[in-house]
Amino acid sequence: MINLTASILTISDRSYAGTRPDSAGPKIIELLKTKNIAIINYAIVPDEIDLITKKLSEWINEGSSRIIFTTGGTGFAPRDNTPEATKLVIEKETPGISEYIRKKSAEITPHAILSRGISGISKTTLIINLPGSPKAACESIEFIINVLPHAVELIMEDSNSEKNH
Ligand code: MTE
Repeated sequence: MINLTASILTISDRSYAGTRPDSAGPKIIELLKTKNIAIINYAIVPDEIDLITKKLSEWINEGSSRIIFTTGGTGFAPRDNTPEATKLVIEKETPGISEYIRKKSAEITPHAILSRGISGISKTTLIINLPGSPKAACESIEFIINVLPHAVELIMEDSNSEKNH
């Protein structure tokens, strides 16, 4: 059984500025720990594309996080830039994960279709955009948690076979 590791990136102008405490990041960490997923990094960045891509690239290149969960910045507001930043760092999109999160979330609230979150693979890391509210982020993780071990196994298999050639 593969060991899952994750990093959590909270994307929020207000939490970065310290005017609103980040509640989603700690809730996600708490949930992942109950699923035996080891936490590698946690950080808060503002809704700036270059700062989001910088932090994502740093963690991708570091190579120890099998999954990066982002939370926030997926909506329709002018400062919601997370999917655009994520697109810049991934090599392959994994639309099924984000489609399934939206489909299952829409059964809870129709507002779920207002999340533009995407997901994809960069090197040996799977990046998954989650909405910003702690409730929405944790619900979203619950919907996909069971497919993550196999997803990560496949990503690592690719990298091993490349090394063998
Ligand atoms: N997904 C789930 N599972 N539960 C929710 O309550 N709320 C949504 C949505 N996805 C919600 C959800 C709302 S209200 C919005 S506006 C979008 O995600 C985008 O959120 P974000 O801009 O904070 O990323």
